[in-house]
Amino acid sequence: MTKSTPQSNSDAYEERANWPPYTYRDYPDIKPETYKAFMEFLNTENTTGRLMELQPWISVCDSRCAFCYFPTTASSKVKIEPYLELVKKELEMYAKTKYIKTSVFDEIVLGGGTPSVLTAEQIIDLIDFCKARFNINKENFIKVTGSSKTLALPKIDKLAAYGVFQMDMGAQTFDDKLRKLLCLPDSGADVERAIKHARKLGLCVCVDLMYNLPGQTMESWVSTLNKAIELDVEIDAYSLHVDPGTPLEKMIQTGVAPKPGDAEYEKEMYLAAYNLLTKAGYKAVGHDRFSREPWHVRENCINGWPWGGILTTGAGCFMGYLQRFSYSNIEDINNYMATVKTGKLPIQRLSESNNDDMMRREMSRLYIRLPVSKQEFMEKFGKLPEDVFPKQLHRLKEQGLIEIDAKEIRLSKKGEVWKGNIAWEFASESQTHGK
Ligand SMILES: C[S@@+](CC[C@H](N)C(=O)[O-])C[C@H]1O[C@@H](n2cnc3c(N)ncnc32)[C@H](O)[C@@H]1O
Ligand code: SF4
Repeated sequence: MTKSTPQSNSDAYEERANWPPYTYRDYPDIKPETYKAFMEFLNTENTTGRLMELQPWISVCDSRCAFCYFPTTASSKVKIEPYLELVKKELEMYAKTKYIKTSVFDEIVLGGGTPSVLTAEQIIDLIDFCKARFNINKENFIKVTGSSKTLALPKIDKLAAYGVFQMDMGAQTFDDKLRKLLCLPDSGADVERAIKHARKLGLCVCVDLMYNLPGQTMESWVSTLNKAIELDVEIDAYSLHVDPGTPLEKMIQTGVAPKPGDAEYEKEMYLAAYNLLTKAGYKAVGHDRFSREPWHVRENCINGWPWGGILTTGAGCFMGYLQRFSYSNIEDINNYMATVKTGKLPIQRLSESNNDDMMRREMSRLYIRLPVSKQEFMEKFGKLPEDVFPKQLHRLKEQGLIEIDAKEIRLSKKGEVWKGNIAWEFASESQTHGK
């Protein structure tokens, strides 16, 4: 075990928490008074000085992967052009507000879903629209999410020529047996072809890879990771969560697919990835990323958490946060479109954090592998983290999971593997009970 390796510490927690508190699933349904408060907030000036991310979602896929919990609609059931018009209308509604007029964005990210179901011309038109309506920083990055099954090579050519910086691809695994089981319609070789083509054009490629999949051996996982290293891509490594209502849940219940591995196996798979990738020069950044791309380390929407912002739009988008407000949109694409047509923001869930919640959210920087600055905490809340969370910080330090010095609190090497659990230590009681 090298010095930079997080130790296998089965004593800290029984199992790893892969999600922190305060995700969209915890937001309350929007109410007239919270909608009003949000509109009033949007009518104020953005004085944070932080660069933000603009994230329109194309919540459409041309096939359904067995594990996926994203609220997407089949492309066969969506009229794309009217949907795009309404995403633009929603963007326009935000663009006209004082808050957004006084905000600067340095990332435009087409997410979803699978924006690559669009033609290259539709993608470029939407990005042009964003550039025309929002303040985009001179140094900016454009990312487009795509699946190899809808990313024809000429489409990649056009996006690269336009100036797209990064393709995000849901590769999941290069193991064709697993791909078939998970209803991924194309082969590992198809994914490889799309990646190689994009890399040859100079695009940064970030692939989503999943571990602890049903029947996935350590050998298969390591082989997928080695393939990703060989292809010279950035990696988002996600631990499978079997979500209620997904086809995979049914497949496991009926014995069509085996159960995923237990907590120990899941942790071993994480550690295998951590060790292999850090040895290959990757740095663990954000919540699940391993990257060799310097820009990922200084990405503003992550580093600004929880005070910066992601302005997200489109059916089912759920990563929106603007300082104290976090929101997700109506998932059903027809209801989404009908609401936007009325001129109302299509928000389904909206959470406004009070000071107490913001202090807890500030501590969740540890989950995204960022330090908590004592000075910033003091400036925001008039207290030090030690004053607010004495027991939690003492316990975590005693266990060697965090380090505290005069300037900051940060995750220790030993705490790396438990970063989700560490974030939960700062959750409120009501959050913990709802878990
Ligand atoms: C919205 S998808 C974006 C990728 C794109 N739609 C594609 O598949 O090419 C985001 C990623 O979330 C991950 N994901 C989806 N369902 C998951 C689950 N149940 N557990 C863990 N990760 C999941 C997958 O790795 C997926 O690629
Ligand atoms: S993983 Fe991507 S392509 Fe598959 S269903 Fe989810 S959003 Fe669609």
